[in-house]
Amino acid sequence: MSNVTVIGTQWGDEGKGKIVDWLASRADIVVRFQGGHNAGHTLVVGDQVYKLSLLPSGLVRGKIGVIGNGVVVDPKALMTEIDRVTAQGLVVTPETLWIAENAPLILPVHGALDRAREAARGDHKIGTTGRGIGPAYEDKVARRAIRICDLAEPETLDWKLDELLLHHNTLLAGLGAETFTKEQLKDFLAEITPRLLPFSCQVWDCLDEARRAGRRILFEGAQAVMLDVDHGTYPFVTSSNTVAAVAASGSGVSPSSVGFVLGIAKAYTTRVGEGPFPTELHDQTGRTLGERGHEFGTVTGRPRRCGWFDAVLIRRAVRVGGVSGIALTKLDVLDGLDEISICVGYELDGQKIETFPSAPGAQARVKPVYETMPGWKETTAGARSWAELPAQAIKYVRRIEELIEAPVTLLSTSPERDDTILMRDPFED
Ligand code: IMP
Repeated sequence: MSNVTVIGTQWGDEGKGKIVDWLASRADIVVRFQGGHNAGHTLVVGDQVYKLSLLPSGLVRGKIGVIGNGVVVDPKALMTEIDRVTAQGLVVTPETLWIAENAPLILPVHGALDRAREAARGDHKIGTTGRGIGPAYEDKVARRAIRICDLAEPETLDWKLDELLLHHNTLLAGLGAETFTKEQLKDFLAEITPRLLPFSCQVWDCLDEARRAGRRILFEGAQAVMLDVDHGTYPFVTSSNTVAAVAASGSGVSPSSVGFVLGIAKAYTTRVGEGPFPTELHDQTGRTLGERGHEFGTVTGRPRRCGWFDAVLIRRAVRVGGVSGIALTKLDVLDGLDEISICVGYELDGQKIETFPSAPGAQARVKPVYETMPGWKETTAGARSWAELPAQAIKYVRRIEELIEAPVTLLSTSPERDDTILMRDPFED
């Protein structure tokens, strides 16, 4: 019996929410280990639609949700989300939600700095969610973050706020943005502390106890490998590591606890925000994918850029992300297309290359080399067995497996939770 870690293999929004929800019903505990409220999951359960950004998806299934130390926590956003799902009937208490007391907080200064810096970047903007994720991670690494445990120590908080404001106000003033007073931050923290502290605990210890009791843990990644701060399309990335290895350090468990790594990949590719995207389609096919796939960001509502499946990038995500098997989502969006292309290599300045380059200039210049295959006319939407799929759709999936050098262990054919074809149960691996 294994734990399972779910990560995205493209630029996020691969449909992780549905897969995590489906797996959560078989787990006891669901853990978020990186990112913050920049993530967005939409879960459809019966007639309820849950929009989650920070809360682990397992809460929707009545499981214990955990926010690990690798997550940056915006306490206001968290409370708003808890209030929203509570109004929808979920029970969120310190018994069902454990938050790492060593997790860093996102404060109003972080969002302000994120937005001021994006505005100053002009043509080179990253297209961040503007929610302060990057500045909060910077503060963690620079050792000036306010962590949840600091809220219980007013004397610590006092000198830490001075240090934080010295740094941030200097930057904000330099960027021509409004600065903050210590009183403002103190008021903000005083308001959230009584609600936040009861949820906080030593998550590593609770998870260790859960492991000893044989409980099944699902680690829920946010964003995706191509947005990883080391392995993604830097600098057009998020500010955390998104690969499966981080499930361990981001929640305080041993590397062997990560278990089966399920990489989620859409049957085509999308991206929000700026940055290189070799297979992006600017034509009617791109628009068709966007319309059929309802490709709008859950968090910001921005339309997503759409393009063909890039097997080269996913092969890399499989290797660096430690992916054991792939969950392929949204196959039905390709139904009815005459032809479907897969990127199998690149051309850079007239030379054929087999891996994606690291420098941003080269990343922007690469041209995809495509392999094109006939599409299928039949619908795959709602298929629940391999036998229900058209032969051509099966060929497409098989070709993807060959190119990315990983098995497709799960196939999702509609947003409905049960429209899923399971080739291998990751918890049984
Ligand atoms: P940040 O994470 O807000 O700093 O944004 C950095 C980049 O990551 C931007 O291109 C965002 O659009 C992208 N990003 C962050 N979170 C997600 C996500 O959950 N899905 C897709 N893109 C994301």
